[in-house]
Amino acid sequence: MAKNNGLKCSICGKEAVRYIPYANIALCRDHYVEWFEKRFFKHVDSFRIFEGSKRVAVAVSGGKDSVSLLHLTKMASEKYGFEVLGITIDLGIDRGTAYSKKSVEVALSNYKKLGVDYVIIPLKEKHGFSIDDSKRYVNRPVCSTCGLVKRYLLNEVAEEHGADTLATGHNLDDMAQYVLSAYVHGNLEYVLRNGPVIPARPGYPVKKVKPLFLTPEEEILHYALIKGFDFIYDPCPYSSEFNRVSKEKLGLIIKKIEKEYPGFTLGLVQTFEKEVKPKMHYTKETQEITKCKICGRPTTPGRDICSFCAVKMKIYESLHRSDGLKKAHNG
Ligand code: AMP
Ligand code: FES
Ligand code: ZN
Ligand code: ZN
Repeated sequence: MAKNNGLKCSICGKEAVRYIPYANIALCRDHYVEWFEKRFFKHVDSFRIFEGSKRVAVAVSGGKDSVSLLHLTKMASEKYGFEVLGITIDLGIDRGTAYSKKSVEVALSNYKKLGVDYVIIPLKEKHGFSIDDSKRYVNRPVCSTCGLVKRYLLNEVAEEHGADTLATGHNLDDMAQYVLSAYVHGNLEYVLRNGPVIPARPGYPVKKVKPLFLTPEEEILHYALIKGFDFIYDPCPYSSEFNRVSKEKLGLIIKKIEKEYPGFTLGLVQTFEKEVKPKMHYTKETQEITKCKICGRPTTPGRDICSFCAVKMKIYESLHRSDGLKKAHNG
């Protein structure tokens, strides 16, 4: 990952641990950490990520991105004077890898180390189904069900625990996939709404932020390794299924272009954010909100039931039907 090849740090002349091609600098261990953290604060300031925030919830999956984000947000909280709350959802993903169990353990170890408040939400205990159940009973890609469950619960829990801001660990590579896929599939309105800061709006009182949106995934990994953070290395056991999703294929293509053309990924996202977005006119979302008839949370206008409750109902029906079948079979 790190390409030093005998290179010396551009700042102090010590052995470099990383060369940053798009900035044409080589950095030693200490200067890499310093440069990385300085850039984090630069992005936080220039995109006004934590402006007005008093209580920031950080969504921690236990991966390198969200664990690094938790540590950086804790540093930011000391500079700007806000509170930090960690949120982890136990999604109930096992498939012989104990993925969710490890994810919760790693998140907990980081919360305790930093001494921050936290909440762990056990999906199965709270809502009666796990993501593994959804794989069996819902006819849509498991990562899509998982995405909607996470969005729903993170918003709900952040709100319930008095947070005014919800931070997620989306990185530059994630954002580049969104942007490129929006051009390819003609869904620009979606990315226009999904930038580094999504302000609070009717039905969603918590502002959403992505402080690492301009930070490349590989650089976050290197930072987390140097800092010795406890994080999960293994990908989610469903990640091999991602390859069927075009967004993920785009991710691999973007990585190839970046290799040939350093700075492509940063240029793609930064130019979109700074140059394209301000010049685009799009239909603002309606201020009207429709509430889900089951849970009372906001739903897409025109729909009585939100996607989360729809998935939950589908799984309940299937679980009960299979219970009934089992009973009939055994009895
Ligand atoms: P993903 O949707 O897996 O690409 O994750 C994007 C971001 O969502 C992560 O960086 C976290 O901030 C958040 N996230 C993902 N999974 C969880 C989880 N189980 N609990 C809390 N936050 C999560
Ligand atoms: Fe949701 Fe893998 S983390 S499907
Ligand atoms: Zn140095
Ligand atoms: Zn609902």
